[in-house]
Amino acid sequence: MISIQAVTYPIDFNEKAYTALAGLIRSSNYSSIFILVDNNTITHCYPRFIKLLETDKKIEVIEIEAGEVNKNINTCVGVWNAMTELGADRKSLLITLGGGVITDLGGFVASTFKRGIDFVNIPTTLLSMVDASVGGKTGVDLGVLKNQIGLFTNPKMIVLDPEYLQTLSAREIRSGTAEIIKYGMTHDIHLFNEIKDNIKLNIVDLIHRSIEIKNEVVLEDPKENGIRKALNWGHTIGHGVESYFLESSHKENLTHGEAIAVGIICETYISSKLTGFPLNKVKSVKNAIITIYGKVPVIEGDFNAILNFMKHDKKNINGEINFVLLEDFEKFKINCKVSNELIKESLKYYNE
Ligand code: GLY
Repeated sequence: MISIQAVTYPIDFNEKAYTALAGLIRSSNYSSIFILVDNNTITHCYPRFIKLLETDKKIEVIEIEAGEVNKNINTCVGVWNAMTELGADRKSLLITLGGGVITDLGGFVASTFKRGIDFVNIPTTLLSMVDASVGGKTGVDLGVLKNQIGLFTNPKMIVLDPEYLQTLSAREIRSGTAEIIKYGMTHDIHLFNEIKDNIKLNIVDLIHRSIEIKNEVVLEDPKENGIRKALNWGHTIGHGVESYFLESSHKENLTHGEAIAVGIICETYISSKLTGFPLNKVKSVKNAIITIYGKVPVIEGDFNAILNFMKHDKKNINGEINFVLLEDFEKFKINCKVSNELIKESLKYYNE
């Protein structure tokens, strides 16, 4: 699998990536290596990783609790303290081994520790492979508000090893699939069709193509001033739904992808009302997504609370909720304004 060159770092695939990582460690003369894991990846991914990591440097492992609820500044303080106690210095390297929580939080911790140390991302979930670990966004949640604190900062490299996917549940794979659907609808409809029709699903090819798309977008707009906003397709309502379910004690938490799936259906409906997305395609998007994800229990009594969470979306300017909508597949429009009524109508459409 051909490596992908991001702005300042390579994304290397399979065993070749471990050779590249060993080369980076040798040439950078790191003083020590810290590996950030969670209670899942320590068991399921770390044994493979440590077997393939070639180095004679001192290694320390720092473990945090898995899950979005731990993606917060308290966890960062714990990791900064552990690094300090274990003697990390400015020439230490932090390797993040995990899903989006680990790569987002780890990149943030590394970039702020002693004003910034190097880090390498080793995404182990599909979600993190195709989205979170690529593109330089790092950070944590503020309460249940997603990714409110953070910075743009790039890893030294990404090790993309699809073998780690073997450790995931079907639900986690579905979660990452929502991001591939996003790239499909906004940039390359073949990706969406392959998932929809479940034909020749070569997951490594889907990952590679998704990263290619993301990388092209990020190279053009690294700080999300323009076209990178398209990568938030489905996320404006999706994040609102995700935060609401995280906060509600009477709702079971959704995976990120399950929430984004709701968002994609709603935002497709809104696109048909505001930007001319063809009506017949709205139905087929809804059918395809419900077939994969089932129906999430979003009832009318939830709508106002979901809207309230959307008011904190990072794309909002002057308090206005800012959407990316589609005129058709592969034709997106950024900075669209949508009324509260239409957002609620779209949630109703999801429910029908
Ligand atoms: N997850 C969307 C982006 O990285 O821009």
